[in-house]
Amino acid sequence: MGNYKIDLRSEEEQKVEAERQLQYIDEIREQVSEISENLGRPLYSCVVTFGCQMNARDSEKLRGIFASAGFLDTSNEDDADFVIYNTCTVRDNADQHVYGRLGHLNSVKRKKPGMVIGLCGCMMQEKHIVEKIRKSYSFVDLIFGTHNLYEFPELLLRVIREKKRVIEIMEATPYLPESLPTERKYAFKSGVNIMYGCNNFCTYCIVPYVRGREISRKPIDIIRECEKLAADGVREIMLLGQNVNSYGKTLDEKISFAELLEMVCRVDGIDRIRFMTSHPKDLSDELISVMARNPKVCRHMHLPVQSGSDRILKNMNRHYDREHYIELVRKLREAMPDISLTTDIIVGFPGETEEDFLDTLSLVREVGFDSAFTFIYSKRTGTPAAKMENQVPDDIVHERFDRLLAEVKVSAEKMCARFEGQVMDVLVEEKNKQPGLVTGRIGHNLVVHLTGDESMIGKIVPVRLVACKGFYYIGEPA
Ligand code: SAH
Ligand code: SF4
Ligand code: F3S
Repeated sequence: MGNYKIDLRSEEEQKVEAERQLQYIDEIREQVSEISENLGRPLYSCVVTFGCQMNARDSEKLRGIFASAGFLDTSNEDDADFVIYNTCTVRDNADQHVYGRLGHLNSVKRKKPGMVIGLCGCMMQEKHIVEKIRKSYSFVDLIFGTHNLYEFPELLLRVIREKKRVIEIMEATPYLPESLPTERKYAFKSGVNIMYGCNNFCTYCIVPYVRGREISRKPIDIIRECEKLAADGVREIMLLGQNVNSYGKTLDEKISFAELLEMVCRVDGIDRIRFMTSHPKDLSDELISVMARNPKVCRHMHLPVQSGSDRILKNMNRHYDREHYIELVRKLREAMPDISLTTDIIVGFPGETEEDFLDTLSLVREVGFDSAFTFIYSKRTGTPAAKMENQVPDDIVHERFDRLLAEVKVSAEKMCARFEGQVMDVLVEEKNKQPGLVTGRIGHNLVVHLTGDESMIGKIVPVRLVACKGFYYIGEPA
């Protein structure tokens, strides 16, 4: 890992490449208008996100490029002329989800031969998957990897012009896709990548293999992007990275995540700042104190623990133990007593015994999480854990998983209820399915349904949290 060469080009070369890609967008636009004229209707594109927030942010780039090239966006893939699946491969069920949907898309394409189907994202960085698609999914027209996102305009133009299959997969990132147009899902909130890749190599995890080595963006570029977003009406920003707490370590001029966070707090117009994900091994006291003294930083920390057993944590290569995690929770709550804590937990890691599992259950009880994402361990080809002995039988894993869910539910319901009756600021995000209601979130990330209308979307309003309904609140504007 230490001597792995990050093949990132110089800033000047990055600029030149970005210009080149923007020119391709102009060329696609000409093609699109020609095709549209012949068809007598506009061309529709559809981008489907399968993965995490970073995957979603990449999808916003894909949508931005489609929009600048003259496509109209649709969320219904059956209506689209161009469909891109932005895949995830963190667990096997993510892969299966993609294969299932591809089967459906194939039947749609049979009736619409002109349809173009593309696959990108993390699954495409796995050789055996690309081989399978190459051989058995001949209706897929375009395949590109996570490191090729910057050249999507060029690839798109090639598919349109050459009318034959295009496959481009790189092993590392030469150019970042920063200067490409973006089409945000929400007008009022946005993710901002602060780093790419991951260097942690948790033994169960495929991400370092499919996303490559950790690269931090320069603070100046991040701040400029936040300022631009603020000028464009964004109120809430989520700083994104697989392990934001190690931000800055690969930069020539050293800077910590805490320092970056404090800089982002100074951007006028941004009222709420979130970040994802924090790794417990790198969570610093400095970060806790920056959070505590900056009210713009949301009182919410997503801190994946993965397991409550020291033995399992060690085999997972997580570089912390149960005691360290509990100590972090203590410090966070000491500095911000009402902070909301959420986590990720894996059940059935190889060699997990009943005793190890009981350690996880007792940790959940001891910490008291606001919510927890619980996952059944999924064997990922190429990771060290896939080769470990003592893979836990399915029936035992499922039984443990159900017990964990029950424990999480007890803890979450208790935690969620703690704000009942209080007035808190809610950022209204969308209309509720029920007429006369809108839905938003408090800084602590809890969902609130309240009386209101569309005009409130994107605004931060004080709301009385009238009743807690387990995992969400019913509120009234205060
Ligand atoms: N970088 C983040 C997590 C990214 S993946 C972090 O380190 O916290 C999101 C979550 O998926 C992980 O926290 C983990 O709980 C889960 N996960 C990752 N690989 C998995 C696997 N092979 N099986 C089951 N869950 C997994
Ligand atoms: Fe995966 Fe660990 Fe990196 Fe998170 S920190 S992405 S779990 S290797
Ligand atoms: Fe999935 Fe890739 Fe994110 S594997 S979780 S989409 S980084």
